[in-house]
Amino acid sequence: MLSRSEKETEEIGYRFGKSLKRGDTVSLIGSLGAGKTVFAKGIARALGITEAVVSPTFTLVQEYEGSEKLYHLDLYRLSGEDEFESMGGEEFLYPDGITLVEWAEKIGDMMRSDAFFVTITINDDESREITIEGGNHEYSCS
Ligand SMILES: Nc1ncnc2c1ncn2[C@@H]1O[C@H](COP(=O)(O)OP(=O)(O)OP(=O)(O)O)[C@@H](O)[C@H]1O
Ligand SMILES: [Mg+2]
Repeated sequence: MLSRSEKETEEIGYRFGKSLKRGDTVSLIGSLGAGKTVFAKGIARALGITEAVVSPTFTLVQEYEGSEKLYHLDLYRLSGEDEFESMGGEEFLYPDGITLVEWAEKIGDMMRSDAFFVTITINDDESREITIEGGNHEYSCS
C-alpha cells in the first residue's frame, strides 16, 4: 500500500487495527522515522485508546487500556536478546491483549513466526510503502 502522508499511514494503521484480536503480536519494521509509531497510533485509536501514544523512551514498554490492552514495545535501545529475557519480554509476545513491537530486529528469532509483520519503507519522494505479511488470521485494511 502507498501512503502519501502521516495521516494516511495512521489511517491504514487504524483500519488494520480494527482486524486485530486478543493475543496478536505485530512487528513494526522500518528505518528511523519511517512511520512505525504513526502506524501504532492508528492501531491504538482502533482500540479506543484516547491517551497519547508516544514512543517509550526510557521504558522499553508502554501499556495502554482500550477495548483490548495494548503493549507498545520500542526495542531501539535494547542491548540484545539477553536484556529482552531479563525484562520478561517473551510474556509480551503472547499478550492478554495486543502487542506492537518496534525494532523487533533486536530480538531476532525470538519474535513469533506467526506475528504480523508490517514493513514501512521510505520512497525517494518521501511517501511510504507499507506491506503487511504473516499473522494467523485474516485482516483487512479497507
Ligand atoms: N507517509 C508518511 N507516513 C508516516 N510518516 C510520515 C509520512 N510522511 C512523512 N512522515 C513523517 O515521518 C515521521 C515518522 O515518525 P515515526 O515516529 O512514526 O517514525 P518511527 O518509524 O516510529 O521512528 P523511530 O524508529 O525513531 O521510532 C513523522 O515525523 C511523520 O510526520
Ligand atoms: Mg517509533
